[in-house]
Amino acid sequence: MSNESLANLLKEERRFAPPAALAAEANVTAEAYERAKADRLGFWAEQARRLTWAVEPSETLDWSNPPFAKWFADGKLNVAYNCVDRHVENGLGDRVALHFEGEPGDSRSLTYAELQSEVCRAANALIELGVQTGDRVAIYMPMIPETVIAMLACARLGAPHSVVFGGFSADALATRVKDADARVVITADGGYRRGKPSALKPAVDEALTRPGTENVRSVLVVRRTGQPLEEAGSTWTEGRDVWWHELVDRQSDQHTPEAFDAEHPLFILYTSGTTGKPKGILHTTGGYLTQASYTHHAVFDLKPESDVYWCTADVGWVTGHSYIVYGPLSNGATEVLYEGTPDTPHQGRWWEIVQKYGVTVLYTAPTAIRACMKWGDDIPAKFDLSSLRVLGSVGEPINPEAWVWYREHIGGNTTPVVDTWWQTETGAIMVSPLPGVTETKPGSAQVPLPGIAATVVDDEANEVPNGSGGYLVLTEPWPSMLRTIWGDDQRYLDTYWSRFEGRYFAGDGAKKDEDGDIWLLGRVDDVMLVSGHNISTTEVESALVSHPKVAEAAVVGAADPQTTQAICAFVILRGGAAEDDGLVEELRAHVAKQLGPIAKPKRILPVAELPKTRSGKIMRRLLRDIAENRALGDVTTLTDSSVMDLIQSKLPSAP
Ligand code: WT7
Repeated sequence: MSNESLANLLKEERRFAPPAALAAEANVTAEAYERAKADRLGFWAEQARRLTWAVEPSETLDWSNPPFAKWFADGKLNVAYNCVDRHVENGLGDRVALHFEGEPGDSRSLTYAELQSEVCRAANALIELGVQTGDRVAIYMPMIPETVIAMLACARLGAPHSVVFGGFSADALATRVKDADARVVITADGGYRRGKPSALKPAVDEALTRPGTENVRSVLVVRRTGQPLEEAGSTWTEGRDVWWHELVDRQSDQHTPEAFDAEHPLFILYTSGTTGKPKGILHTTGGYLTQASYTHHAVFDLKPESDVYWCTADVGWVTGHSYIVYGPLSNGATEVLYEGTPDTPHQGRWWEIVQKYGVTVLYTAPTAIRACMKWGDDIPAKFDLSSLRVLGSVGEPINPEAWVWYREHIGGNTTPVVDTWWQTETGAIMVSPLPGVTETKPGSAQVPLPGIAATVVDDEANEVPNGSGGYLVLTEPWPSMLRTIWGDDQRYLDTYWSRFEGRYFAGDGAKKDEDGDIWLLGRVDDVMLVSGHNISTTEVESALVSHPKVAEAAVVGAADPQTTQAICAFVILRGGAAEDDGLVEELRAHVAKQLGPIAKPKRILPVAELPKTRSGKIMRRLLRDIAENRALGDVTTLTDSSVMDLIQSKLPSAP
């Protein structure tokens, strides 16, 4: 990215110091950065001791065959033991592990002792189904306790799980089952979404008719909605399908965990990526759990005896793996697990849950924060949110206005907001403020965590000076790094390690500000070239969202004969704002004022909704198709494909 574009960057001057009381009691202080800088591997070896090992590792990192890392290679441990049994052994069996809140309003709390019994029963059930160490198990579930139990049961047996998001289609499930060569699928009749049962089992039936899925011998089905299967279009295959309550409930609640090598595969998780077939990201045992546990302790300042933690992600994403299952449970946390959508049955549902359980730490995504902003300040104001003390954000760059709104309207103007940058591939948080240490800047993930080495480089791999932009790279291996792409080492090398020699290429644009703090600018494919200037879609979006009448914005570069690309913005207006030509002009002028005239959008289209993937990321590719008057590309990973019809119906026939 050229430096000239950076002269025009959004100026964000607001600063927020950590609350003194939090800083005084913080789990991690500034000293950790010094400690890790002095001896990075020694630092991680210390963090590994957060875990209980059956055989303590004597080695930390084996990087003799880069970029294929081995962490703590001669150590042995069991992940489920670390997440469940050891807490019970330490006298914490009566502590609540999960407060489950179903969408229809049913709720259920499981203590660590209860979780231990359930995980043991499920592990025994999988053994009865013939699951052996190393067998892959696909999990296609709603957000219910059995999902967490199933993951932990797999981990307990050393059977790598591959969780497939419950919102994905039969096709997506089939591709993933086939690629991982799964032997068992764990699913449910369905889950509740938007006030009604949403079936899952029919998609499993369909997926398992596809070639390449023949090795699946059993389908274990949780009864969640109780909807008659035939009514939902599912058929029961005798000999293959088995009800969870029939098989699991009759098992013994005793099971002795076996210790596995630190590099034993823990899970495969597919990332869709923008092109090509999904990549099966492989994570292993000891390094992954070390970093998931440490970062959860450090970034959220988790005090397991008093905090009530809630991560709103779906377990189908890596955020759910690391910050619903493995991080929090390894730390003995009490957490909320919520099945449904934030606006069912009303737009205050999340805040009602925060109030009900006294949630202290909340971790969510910018897309959800912007939706809440759009619904209005008066909704969270109706609830008591005073228990909250740390707020987190993840998934995409958070616009400064959304960050500030989050702190003010959810965090009562006092809580730190930690903007955490990481990826499925990194396994755990990499760049983030620490709530008791960092003076935060709205919109910036700021600093690599202790023990993490990240920087920003230019096209020639030179580190950029402060005040300049380029590409985010990771310069040293880290414990929870992906080990490869399942079955495709070459693709692992090509995708992440070939762009810059010896450095991990994350695929994100970033800049360093005058203090050297990191600002993420979105995927590099989302950078626009306008009259020779590189302009980040994220920055134009943030400029638009900083206008009081704009709730959300998505910006794309459309091919343009004069300027190479022209900036085209799609905006969702805040409730009540009238859309007229005057407003469009006002918004264009606003962006020009914020970022400079070069960043002024050529076109601005007010729309009712934006196309998003099921993980909440805006699908700019589809908006580019619209902006360039092309037929739409693949819409199958959209949450709601009718959104595109709505947008198209609003367009003037030709620009
Ligand atoms: C991509 C990874 C990490 C769990 C959820 C997403 C974007 C993620 C941030 C952030 C700016 C962010 C990046 C990254 N991203 N967090 N705090 N600021 N961008 O996992 O689906 O693997 O996506 O999400 O573009 O590369 P993922």
